[in-house]
Amino acid sequence: MKAKNEIKNIDKKSQKKAIIKVRNLEVTFPIRQGNVIALDDINLDIYHGETIGIVGESGCGKSTLGFSLLNSIQSPGRITKGEIYFHDENILNKTKKEIQRIRGKQISMIFQDPMTSLNPLLRIDKHIIETIRKHEKNVSKKEALERAAYLLDKLGIVRNRLFDYPHQLSGGMRQRVMIGIGLALNAEVLIADEPTTSLDVIVEAQFINLLNQLKDDFGITLILITHNMGIVAEISDRIAVMYGGKIMEIGDSRLVFKDPLHPYTQGLLKSIPNIALDDNSLEPMPGFPPDLLNPPKGCRFAPRCKYATEKCFNEVPPVFEYRERLVSCFLYEKKK
Ligand SMILES: Nc1ncnc2c1ncn2[C@@H]1O[C@H](COP(=O)(O)OP(=O)(O)O)[C@@H](O)[C@H]1O
Ligand SMILES: [Mg+2]
Repeated sequence: MKAKNEIKNIDKKSQKKAIIKVRNLEVTFPIRQGNVIALDDINLDIYHGETIGIVGESGCGKSTLGFSLLNSIQSPGRITKGEIYFHDENILNKTKKEIQRIRGKQISMIFQDPMTSLNPLLRIDKHIIETIRKHEKNVSKKEALERAAYLLDKLGIVRNRLFDYPHQLSGGMRQRVMIGIGLALNAEVLIADEPTTSLDVIVEAQFINLLNQLKDDFGITLILITHNMGIVAEISDRIAVMYGGKIMEIGDSRLVFKDPLHPYTQGLLKSIPNIALDDNSLEPMPGFPPDLLNPPKGCRFAPRCKYATEKCFNEVPPVFEYRERLVSCFLYEKKK
């Protein structure tokens, strides 16, 4: 179905088709002391078939962004401004029922520990059958199970493990089950929120290979939320760097790693072992992330930025296009 009003890409030069378009998104958590603006004026396109890494320090709003894409921010938080288009239709205007159909079926989300999204009393096969039949009423139990068994086999889980309970599987296997369920529903978009945090290093490596394979075999669009830059470097086509509820830089992964533009991106890359050019150039970033109850008036990174001028403390930098990047920093205002 083609929407009447096609929403233009943010990056006007890009010819790619954006499947998700986030526009001017604001998310607020009202708490006793005031309003926490967890996401402030977020603009992001996610292209069909790409893997995009959403990175940034803990508390910068990555998970909140993930939940927003499914319109499922947990109360008391809510989306206070903006639009989110999925295939050019604003999902924020949809009914609860319509959203439920999108959630899981078209956009699937997996978490750090999928144990929280699996019912401990339900065998894996029952989970799979239930989820598939919830979205596709005409599928028989047998068909649903066959479809899932085929996919899980491709993901390296042998058939007889389907009759286990969630706690009998390892963390890595549970992750794969969640992905398998998403694939069985032909999800177009998979959002993985810190998917490797609870896995050990070897399983993590296998899991990364698996994610790579998903791209090739299923053409899935993958949104990878993580604070682990190593993983992003390995599998992302593009990166969006977040800081204090805002996106600071978006661009092709290789470009961002080779030539980070935003001072925050530069600081972030220098502070990570193995990613910094060599261990001698490893530099911790001084200062602290902003208080989202009372964010700085201008650029949120200004108090930690060695290039900050008076303007940076007073005005929020808009997004500039520079060297095939979208970057929110006055350093790039007049550069072409
Ligand atoms: N339930 C909540 N109540 C109040 N504030 C919240 C809540 N959840 C998130 N926040 C705020 O939103 C910010 C972003 O959180 P989150 O999206 O979980 O960050 P990340 O995933 O990058 O670690 C946090 O710094 C916090 O201030
Ligand atoms: Mg998070």
